[in-house]
Amino acid sequence: MKEASVIELHGIKREYRMEGKKRKHIKDRTKTSQEVVVRALRGVDFSASAGEFVSVMGPSGSGKSTLMNILGCLDKPSGGTYTLDGIETSASNTDTFAYIRNQKIGFVFQSFNLLARTTALENVELPLFYSRPDKAPSNVLSMEATGAAGNQSRSAMSRKEKAAAALREVGLGDRMDHFPSQLSGGQQQRVAIARAMVNDPAFILADEPTGNLDTGMSLEIMGLFQELNRQGKTIIMVTHEPELAAYTKRIITLRDGELVSDEAVVNRRSAADDLAEWKREHALLADQNPAGVLA
Ligand SMILES: Nc1ncnc2c1ncn2[C@@H]1O[C@H](COP(=O)(O)OP(=O)(O)OP(=O)(O)O)[C@@H](O)[C@H]1O
Ligand SMILES: [Mg+2]
Repeated sequence: MKEASVIELHGIKREYRMEGKKRKHIKDRTKTSQEVVVRALRGVDFSASAGEFVSVMGPSGSGKSTLMNILGCLDKPSGGTYTLDGIETSASNTDTFAYIRNQKIGFVFQSFNLLARTTALENVELPLFYSRPDKAPSNVLSMEATGAAGNQSRSAMSRKEKAAAALREVGLGDRMDHFPSQLSGGQQQRVAIARAMVNDPAFILADEPTGNLDTGMSLEIMGLFQELNRQGKTIIMVTHEPELAAYTKRIITLRDGELVSDEAVVNRRSAADDLAEWKREHALLADQNPAGVLA
């Protein structure tokens, strides 16, 4: 049986319309010079099933961020359809759109985006405060009831227990009461990954997740992603670096707003093995690198 798609994009277009410069001598302000249309995405078809680990690559300006914003339900396409976990997002209203974003997607950013005066545990608890199945828009609930959507965790576990479990999963069981400033960059990113997972989203959307980390910490994070993926988590990651894409299972490449290649990764590298080798070479533990503490 074919695995149901978590993500299905059909003919996704995104056009940015910008008014051309207004000419001073034109009194009628509605009569501006030509409108400039930037076609950031020109009909992208892409689907991903549960358990995939996909890199999104492409040169600067090719449309990666535009695609990420659409996948993350932060922006709507100008054309085409996006079905996430059986929910047709393009047709949803603002409330449903926000609900989908909160419940279905776990975000990991280059800059971690943790709250500074909040402990690791509290940071990971945050998404759970917004997660109220009883507040879910009725059309989404009916779709979930029909089984169109993934399993929504409704266990009786308290918020704190759930957050603690997520932190243990990323190897930070002994750092729960630390503030971000008391953690290395790699550890801060692991807190962000725990926060992304705590709602049991349909997929994790990571935007250059190792962009602010040194080699050792980047390998640690890629190793964690590989382990989470091995446990069944679906991950979509934007990266500029072919060395990082080599740890994923599939690479899609954008160019001028079009998807120009979609290939399985052959001879996938193991980040854990590469990390062990890197540590041997450098004869130091990445965790003890104080330079990794980023604001
Ligand atoms: N808000 C906007 N208004 C107008 N044009 C935009 C806007 N955002 C992006 N664009 C244009 O859309 C195209 C795709 O931009 P996008 O940010 O998606 O590229 P990218 O692949 O993420 O590039 P980078 O690797 O530099 O981050 C570019 O030509 C860009 O100038
Ligand atoms: Mg970008």
